[in-house]
Amino acid sequence: MSGLTLVLGILSTTFITFLFFKWFLQNRGKRYPKGPMGFPIIGHLPFFGSHPPSTFMKWRESYGDVFSIRLGSWQAVVVNGYKAVKAAAEHPNDAFSGRPNFVSMEVAAELINEETFAFGNFTPVYLKQRKLTSKALRLFTFKRSDVIEELVTNEANAFADALIRKYSTTPGYIELDVQILVTRIIYQFLYGRGKHVDVDRHVKTIINLLDEINEFSGSGSAIDVLPWLRYIMPGKIEAFRKLATESVGLMREQIQEHYESFSADDIRDVTDAIIASDAEDEENKDKHMLTRARLNLTLADLQGAGVDTTNKTLSWLLLYMTKFPHIQERVFAEIDTVVGKFRNVQLKDKPDLVYTNAVILEVARTVTQLPFSLPHFSMKDAKIEGLDVDKDTVVIFNLYSVHHEKEFWGDPECFRPERFILDDNTLDSDKSNHIVAFGLGRRRCVGEFLAKMNVFLAFSNIMQKCKFVRPPGERLDLTPIPGLVYTSKNFKVLVQERSSSL
Ligand code: HEM
Repeated sequence: MSGLTLVLGILSTTFITFLFFKWFLQNRGKRYPKGPMGFPIIGHLPFFGSHPPSTFMKWRESYGDVFSIRLGSWQAVVVNGYKAVKAAAEHPNDAFSGRPNFVSMEVAAELINEETFAFGNFTPVYLKQRKLTSKALRLFTFKRSDVIEELVTNEANAFADALIRKYSTTPGYIELDVQILVTRIIYQFLYGRGKHVDVDRHVKTIINLLDEINEFSGSGSAIDVLPWLRYIMPGKIEAFRKLATESVGLMREQIQEHYESFSADDIRDVTDAIIASDAEDEENKDKHMLTRARLNLTLADLQGAGVDTTNKTLSWLLLYMTKFPHIQERVFAEIDTVVGKFRNVQLKDKPDLVYTNAVILEVARTVTQLPFSLPHFSMKDAKIEGLDVDKDTVVIFNLYSVHHEKEFWGDPECFRPERFILDDNTLDSDKSNHIVAFGLGRRRCVGEFLAKMNVFLAFSNIMQKCKFVRPPGERLDLTPIPGLVYTSKNFKVLVQERSSSL
C-alpha cells in the first residue's frame, strides 16, 4: 500500500467516524416514528393502494398513530386519530403549520412574485393575509348573513327548477349543474352582483379552468413529490404555468373595477371587504400589506378552495340521498314540519332542522372529501405524541382516520345520521366536534363558516323542492375518485318536483 493510499484511508475513516458521531450526538435520546419499508427514490408511493386513507389506517395498526413514510423526495410523517391530529395541528409553537414547497406551488408563486395564501408558508405576511381575509368573511357570515341567505336561496331555487325541467322524465347527470350552482354563488359572493358582473361568462371560464387544474394535479402531484421530474417533463410545468396565469388574470379585471368604484360606506362583496379591512388595519396604518398581487392571489385561493370543495360536498349529499331513499324521506318530513312549503328554508331554521344537519355531518364523516387536509410542513424540530419529527418534514393529517376510529364511532362503516342525535332531539356536540372536515389549528379552513352556511342553505332548499330518484339500472357507486379533493363518480338521477307552492 502506498503512503498516499494509507493517508487517504485514514482520512476517510476519520471523516466517516466524525459523521457517525455527529449523527449520534444529534439524535441521541431521539425517538423517531417507525414506518413500513419503501423503495429508494419513489418511497412508498406504489403501496398506497386505491384508497390511501384506508391503507394508512392499516399501517397505523402496525406502527402506531404517528408513522413515517417517504413521499418520493420528501420525508413525511402520517398522523392518525383525533388525539394525535389535534395535538399536532394545535401545537403551541405552530411547529406543524408550514406548507411544503411543492413544485406546482413554486410555479404559481413565481408567476406573481408572492407566495399563495392556502399553499404559502407560515410567515408574518401569511398571518396578516389570513387576518384580513377572516375579517372580510366574518362581515358576511355574522353581521350581514342576509346577503348570503338571499344569494344562496335564489340560486338554489333556480337550480331546483332547472333540474326538474331537465330530468323529471329523462334521467341525467347533474354534476355540471351542481358545479354551475356553486360557482355562481361563490363568484357573486366574492365579486358582487349587478350589471357590472358578467356571471355567466366568468362561471364557464372558472369551471373549465378548475377542471383542467384538477386534471393536472392528478398527474402533476407526481411532479410535486418527485421534483426532478420537472426536468424530464417540462411540458407539464409549462401547461400548469399557463393555467395558473389564466386563472390569476381572470380576477385582474374585477380587482381593477373594485379599486376604481370602492366606497367604504358601501361594502358590496368580499373583494370590497378585504380592501376595507386592509385600510382599517391599525398595525398597517401607512404601509398597507395588501398589494394588488396579494389580493389577486387571496381571491384566487378563496375561489379555488371554495368552489371545488362546496361543489363536491353538494354532489356527495345528493348522491347519498338518491342511494338512501328512506333517509331522504326523513329529511323531507323534517323540512315539511319545521318550515312547511310556503317559504324558503332560512338560516334561523338551522337549529330546528336537527336530522338535516345530522345528514350533512354524516356525509362529511363517511366521505371525508379532503382525507389528508392540505399538506403541512414542520418548521422546527418538535414532537407528536412523544415521537420526534425533524424540521422540514411533510406532515400529513389523516382526517379520514379521525372520522373512522372504531373506538369512538362504534360502527364507522355504517351510514347512520342518527348517531349525531341525542335522545332529546338535539345534536350531540361531542360527536359533531369530532368532525374535522375543515382541519384543525391555525391552518384550518378560513372559509369554514361560509361553507357551512352555503351547504346548509343550498341542500335544505333543494330538498324542500326536489326528490332525487335512482333510475332503473343505475348502480350509484359510492367509491370516491382520489385526488386532493375526493370526488363522487358521475351518477344519473331522475329529479321529481315535491311542491309547487312557493
Ligand atoms: C365544504 C366545503 C369546504 C371544505 C370541506 C374545506 C376544507 C378545507 C380543509 C381541510 C383545509 C385545509 C386545512 C389545513 O391545512 O389543515 C382548507 C383550507 C382552506 N380553505 Fe376550505 N373547505 C371548504 C370550503 C371553503 C370555502 C367556501 C372557502 C373560501 C371561500 C375556503 C377557503 C380555504 C382556504 C383559503 C384555505 C387555506 C387556509 C390556510 O392555509 O390558512 N374553503 N379547507
